[in-house]
Order: sequence, then C-alpha cells, then structure tokens
Amino acid sequence: MLKRVLFSGVMVGLMLIFTVSCEGPPGPAGPAGQDGLNGSDGINGTNGQDGEDGQNGSDGVDGSDGVDGQDGQDGQDGADGNLTCLSCHTRANMASIDELFALSGHYAGSYVGYAGSRASCARCHSHEGFIDYVAGYGDEDVAYPSAFKCGTCHGDHRSLEDDISAPLQTIEAITLLVDGTTLDLAGRSNLCANCHQARRGYDYYESIDSVWTHDVNGNDSLLFLVPGGSVYINSSHAGPHLGPQANTLMGLGGYGTSGIGAHSNIGCVRCHMGETTLTEGGHSFVPNLANCTNCHGAITDMESFTRAFQDGVSARMNAIAVALISAGALQQNDSHYYPRISTVSEDEFKAFWNYMVVQEDGSLGIHNPGYLNGLLTYAEAKLGL
Ligand code: HEC
Ligand code: HEC
Ligand code: HEC
Ligand code: HEC
Ligand code: HEC
Ligand code: HEC
Repeated sequence: MLKRVLFSGVMVGLMLIFTVSCEGPPGPAGPAGQDGLNGSDGINGTNGQDGEDGQNGSDGVDGSDGVDGQDGQDGQDGADGNLTCLSCHTRANMASIDELFALSGHYAGSYVGYAGSRASCARCHSHEGFIDYVAGYGDEDVAYPSAFKCGTCHGDHRSLEDDISAPLQTIEAITLLVDGTTLDLAGRSNLCANCHQARRGYDYYESIDSVWTHDVNGNDSLLFLVPGGSVYINSSHAGPHLGPQANTLMGLGGYGTSGIGAHSNIGCVRCHMGETTLTEGGHSFVPNLANCTNCHGAITDMESFTRAFQDGVSARMNAIAVALISAGALQQNDSHYYPRISTVSEDEFKAFWNYMVVQEDGSLGIHNPGYLNGLLTYAEAKLGL
C-alpha cells in the first residue's frame, strides 16, 4: 500500500514536470497486433418459407404420324334431292291435286254424318274410321267423324331410299268381307278395295228363314216364317251395298257366272286416277279418257266412246227392273229403282240380286263388260225375258 501511494506521487510529479516541458513529434505507429482468435459458430437460423412453384416446362415435340388406315367401302348413292322430291312436292303440283280432290265425293263426304260414326260403317265412311281400321282396332264407333283428307289414304314415307313413290296407308292384299276370298289388285289399288267392296253376299239373304214383325212400339210381335222356295228381302237397302267394284272387277259376287276381263288386271288407279285434265283423272277419281287410249286407240271423247255400250246396259237393266217391280222385289222413285221389303221366289231373288250388283257397281258395265253383261243375261233367263 505504501509502495502504491509512493508510486502515485512520483507519477503525479513526473506528469507535472512533463506538462510544463515542450511537446515532441509523435512516434511511429507500432506494428499491427496479432489476429484475434476466430469467434465460435453462431446458432443455426430457422428454415425459410417454401418458394413459389416454378413455371411449366414447354411442350415436348409431336411424335411422328401413324400409318393411314384402309379406306372404308363407298356408301350407296343417295337419291338426287331436289329432282326426286320435286316430281311430287312442288307448290304447283300440290295445288292442282287440291283442286281435283275438291271435286271428289271423297272430299265432299256427303255420308259422313249419316254413316261416318257408326261402328259397322265407319271404316269406309270417315277419315277416323279408316285410320282406326288400318291400325287394326276393328270396327268401333267414332266420336267425331270427318270427311276424307290427304292423310286418309296417304301415310308418310317409311324411307327416302330407292324407288320413292307416294306413301299410302295400306297396299296389302285384301280379304273380301263377304266370303274371305283374297284379292290382290294391280297398281296399288288394294287401297281402294278396302272400301269399294260388297258388304253382303246373296247367301246372307238366302239364310234368312224367319223374321219378327214389330208392333207400333217397335217390339217383336209375330214370328214370320219364310216359306220354302222363297227368299226374304228384308230392307230397302238390300243388295251388296254401293261399291262392290273390287268384286265385280274380278268377276265375283253375282249368280250364275264369273270371269275376269281385260280390265280386271289393271286395278282401279289406272282408269280413275292416272293422267289428269282440269276436271278429270288424278285426285278427282273421275275416269279420264287419256287413261283409256293406249288400249282403245284414237278415241276423242269419253261420252261418245262409252255412250253406246252403257246405253245398251241401261236398256237391259230397265227391262229387268220393270219385271222386278211386277215381282214385288223393286220399287221406283222417279227413274231410280230400289229394293222393296218382300218375299219373292228364288228365281226372282237371283234376278233381283244380279240386277243390284250391276246397279251398285256404278259403271254401267264398264268395269268388267263380259261379266256384268253375263249377270244380266242370267237375270233375264230367271225372269223369262
Ligand atoms: C311420288 C310422289 C312423291 C315423291 C317423289 C316424294 N314424296 Fe314426299 N310425300 C308424298 C305424298 C303423297 C305425301 C303425303 C302427303 C300428305 O299426306 O299430305 C308425302 C309426304 C311427305 C312428307 C310429310 C310426311 C312425312 O313423311 O313425314 C315429307 C317430309 C316428305 N314427303 C318428304 C319428301 C322428300 C324429302 C322427298 C324426296 C327425297 C319426297 N318426299 C319425295 C309424295 C311424294
Ligand atoms: C276409306 C274408304 C275409301 C277408300 C280408301 C276409297 N274410297 Fe272411293 N269412295 C268411298 C266412299 C264412302 C265414297 C262415296 C263418297 C260420297 O259420295 O260421300 C266413294 C266414292 C268414290 C267414287 C265415286 C265418285 C265420287 O266422286 O263420289 C269413285 C269413282 C271412287 N270412290 C273411287 C275410288 C278409288 C279409285 C279409290 C282408290 C284410289 C278409292 N275410291 C278409295 C270410300 C273410299
Ligand atoms: C266396306 C265398306 C263400306 C261399309 C262397311 C259401308 N259402306 Fe256405305 N258406301 C261404301 C262405298 C264405297 C260407297 C260409295 C260407292 C259408290 O259410289 O259406288 C258407299 C255409299 C253409301 C251411301 C250412298 C248411297 C247412295 O245411294 O248414294 C250411303 C247412304 C251409305 N254408303 C251408308 C252406309 C251405312 C249406313 C253403312 C253402315 C250400316 C255403310 N254405308 C257401310 C262403302 C261402305
Ligand atoms: C282416296 C285416296 C286418296 C286421297 C284422299 C288422296 N290421295 Fe294422293 N294418291 C292416292 C293414290 C292411290 C295415288 C297414286 C299412287 C300410285 O300411283 O302409286 C296418289 C298419288 C299422290 C301423289 C303422287 C302423284 C301425283 O299426282 O303427283 C301426290 C303428290 C298425292 N297423291 C298427294 C295427295 C294430296 C296432297 C292429297 C290431299 C289433297 C291426296 N293425295 C289425297 C290416293 C289418295
Ligand atoms: C277400265 C277402267 C276402269 C277400271 C279398271 C275401274 N273403273 Fe271404276 N269406272 C270406270 C268408268 C268408265 C266408270 C263410269 C263412269 C261414268 O259412267 O260416269 C266407272 C265407275 C265407277 C264408280 C261409280 C262412279 C259414280 O260416279 O258413281 C265407282 C265408285 C268406281 N268406278 C270405282 C272403281 C274401283 C274401286 C275400281 C277398282 C276396284 C274401279 N272403279 C276400276 C272405269 C274404270
Ligand atoms: C289395259 C288395256 C285397257 C285399258 C287401259 C282400258 N281398256 Fe277398255 N277394254 C279393253 C279390252 C281388251 C276390251 C275388250 C275385252 C273385254 O271386254 O274385256 C275392253 C272393253 C271395253 C268396253 C266394252 C266395249 C264393248 O263394246 O264391248 C268399254 C266401254 C271400255 N273398255 C271402256 C274403257 C274405258 C272408259 C277405259 C278408260 C277409263 C278403258 N276401257 C281402259 C282394254 C282396256
């Protein structure tokens, strides 16, 4: 302790001396000190956040083309669109069909109200009835019957390939109502024969062996037995019904004769439709002379062509009708003869029946000249004419 105090005093003295003496120039810098020791390693930092995804790499180069497959087979040629369709579907053609159709009884539908809704009549007398019949529903009442229209006879095209013809509801062969005979008429005329055929045969009348008479209230009153050897004509509508043309064309439906003629093989459409004028042929269904000329040659008008033949048939029918009035089988209203409810002999009935077939056929013999004249010959013989 003493030494330290002593030492401090010396130092203070020295410092005083030194301060009062003059300052000298600074000494040269000392040599650099030795490097310090390396510090120890720092503590590891915490992990950084994930970086964002990098951009997609660019597409690789396309592979080389595969080998071409073999060519498929060529399809069938389609029909030439416009040319084929426009042979029917032009405005002008459709308009002329509308005009001709408007002349036809099919369009007028005069009996639609009377017969178009009744189950036993509808298939031939209304659009709805025929469509139901073709669809196979059988005979049913029709609630709201209407006259024939385009779609009564026409269906739609099942296909527009191959041969395109007017689509029809049915062209199947028909089974005759009266006896189940199958007929297959030419020229797509089976359509017509569905309706234009007899509804009743003579055997229906032959089989009537008794009939009830009615009292004033319409109730059954007395049973009347038809005498042997006679036939009962039970209605003023008796006969095959209008339109036995399919039967007569093929030589069927009357007593005593049968037979096909030159017209039998051509169906209905060829004479009743075919070539058109402004009022005949086509959808008027009125026979047009141009449909006859390629068989009958250079004829110039229908009236003079058919007049003599039809007049001949009419004259024979009138003579037969007069005899049938005497027999009680027919009655007369102006120049129209129609059935009378009566009991007649078998021979008279046969004459009556053949007369009705020719009358209801409506062509005055033309449909099947040989056959229809043959029916009249048989009737004349039965009546002793
Ligand atoms: C031989 C005459 C005829 C030719 C050719 C014809 N059609 Fe028709 N087409 C008809 C008749 C007839 C109808 C029924 C008309 C009706 O009921 O009003 C009809 C109906 C149609 C209808 C409506 C009914 C349905 O099938 O859906 C179409 C669509 C039609 N035809 C398209 C065509 C096309 C397309 C072509 C040509 C590739 C063609 N027709 C060629 C006669 C023809
Ligand atoms: C759905 C039944 C039906 C079909 C199918 C039918 N008709 Fe008719 N046809 C009738 C009836 C019913 C009448 C009587 C029409 C009337 O006056 O009301 C008639 C009348 C006629 C007439 C008498 C003239 C007239 O204008 O009244 C001729 C001719 C005729 N049809 C021909 C044909 C021909 C040809 C075909 C086939 C292309 C045919 N019909 C198809 C039911 C039919
Ligand atoms: C198988 C088809 C068919 C059936 C079923 C049928 N008719 Fe007809 N009917 C016709 C045809 C076709 C005509 C016209 C034929 C002609 O003009 O030659 C016609 C014509 C008529 C006419 C006109 C007669 C005249 O004197 O001008 C009357 C009315 C008639 N039928 C009533 C009936 C009644 C009622 C029924 C049912 C009880 C009936 N029809 C059932 C096919 C049929
Ligand atoms: C009573 C039946 C019947 C009625 C109703 C009828 N057609 Fe037809 N139509 C036929 C028959 C049958 C053919 C001829 C088919 C054949 O020759 O192959 C025909 C042919 C046609 C054709 C092709 C031949 C032509 O003249 O260009 C057209 C289109 C046609 N009908 C349109 C109509 C239109 C539209 C209506 C209504 C306004 C109509 N038909 C009503 C029976 C009918
Ligand atoms: C050879 C030609 C020809 C053939 C085939 C033909 N008809 Fe006719 N049809 C006529 C002629 C002609 C008349 C008499 C017309 C007249 O006297 O005004 C007639 C008369 C008719 C009538 C009575 C017309 C009326 O105004 O009362 C009907 C209905 C009829 N034919 C339907 C048919 C049907 C259905 C077929 C087929 C089953 C058929 N025709 C086959 C030429 C033909
Ligand atoms: C496919 C050919 C052919 C066509 C189409 C044809 N006929 Fe005929 N027609 C004949 C032949 C063949 C006869 C005589 C043989 C017979 O009576 O069967 C005949 C007989 C007749 C007769 C009886 C003549 C007589 O004095 O005995 C009349 C009427 C007649 N045809 C009218 C017509 C009318 C009307 C048309 C057209 C709407 C027509 N025919 C279309 C071939 C045809």
